[in-house]
Amino acid sequence: MLSNVTAGQAVHEKYGGVVPELASRAHQQNIIPVVDAAIKEAGISKNEIDAVAFTRGPGLLGSLLVGTSFAKSFAMGLGVPLIDVNHMQGHILAHFIKKKGETSVVPTFPFICLTVSGGHTQIVLVKDYLKMEVMGETMDDAAGEAFDKAAKVLGLPYPGGPLIDKYAKQGNAEAFKFSYPKTDGYTFSFSGLKTQFMNFIRNNEQKDPYFVKNNLEDICASYQAHIVSYLFKKLVPAIEEYGVADVAIAGGVSANSGLRTRLAEEGAKRNWNVFIPEFQFCTDNAAMIAVTGYYKLLNKDFADQSITPMARLKI
Ligand code: KG4
Ligand code: ZN
Repeated sequence: MLSNVTAGQAVHEKYGGVVPELASRAHQQNIIPVVDAAIKEAGISKNEIDAVAFTRGPGLLGSLLVGTSFAKSFAMGLGVPLIDVNHMQGHILAHFIKKKGETSVVPTFPFICLTVSGGHTQIVLVKDYLKMEVMGETMDDAAGEAFDKAAKVLGLPYPGGPLIDKYAKQGNAEAFKFSYPKTDGYTFSFSGLKTQFMNFIRNNEQKDPYFVKNNLEDICASYQAHIVSYLFKKLVPAIEEYGVADVAIAGGVSANSGLRTRLAEEGAKRNWNVFIPEFQFCTDNAAMIAVTGYYKLLNKDFADQSITPMARLKI
């Protein structure tokens, strides 16, 4: 990795969630300055670029269209191959990003990755760089949404996941109890948890109007610990069934300190080799798409100019 430039979109904060139309407009404004900055920071000239990788999906179609159209033109202009990347594969392959001059220990195939983001919650059996099988996923909301929606109920700005994490650090995780959604196998469901949380806050506020203010840290710590426990209720049996030695987490929610600590503890207890991404590679980033593009480049797995983005692209 020579550079990894990200443009944030603060425009969504005041709406309490991502507004698709505003997201695609912001991408349109940011894409050229960001690519230009990435090339400058890498200290290369654009003629040294071997291929252009882009996210084909899953994601918001308007945003994907901006990236797809730009990548097609850029690759055509440079006369280099165009490579389409699946965003969720990218999150997982973030574990293989190599920073210039650094060597790192990487997972050995096959391994299991728990991918938790704002749009997905998946347990994936990773057989090779580009051979992955989803063993189970959420039927409704993603783990990131469970964090963000609860944060909204608490009056915290979007995205609330990192703020719940921050307040949880000062709280007692045993203070409040929640119940687990009932789902089969490796399937998750988070929408019921959101309703449970809303009712919990409403009932307590009827008794004490300052309930949230007076208990914010304990509420965040208890709710976060509950989500993490639910994730492990599914992850542990999956690892036992497949007998893998290496276990990874990926996606925006893998930045959560409760999840990171719990994985390290479970790993020590159960003899797993655990892989926890660096913070900059947890939430959406360019390096994860580039590294996936690199493995597709080795296979000469290229896209042509007729390719279109897919909002619901599967692994
Ligand atoms: O992977 P990502 O950047 O975007 C998607 O592909 O969705 O994930 C964003 C999600 C948001 O829901 C955000 O609240 C959550 O990751 N997130 C966190 C933390 N950092 C980001 N959730 C809990 N704790 C965190 N520290
Ligand atoms: Zn993502």
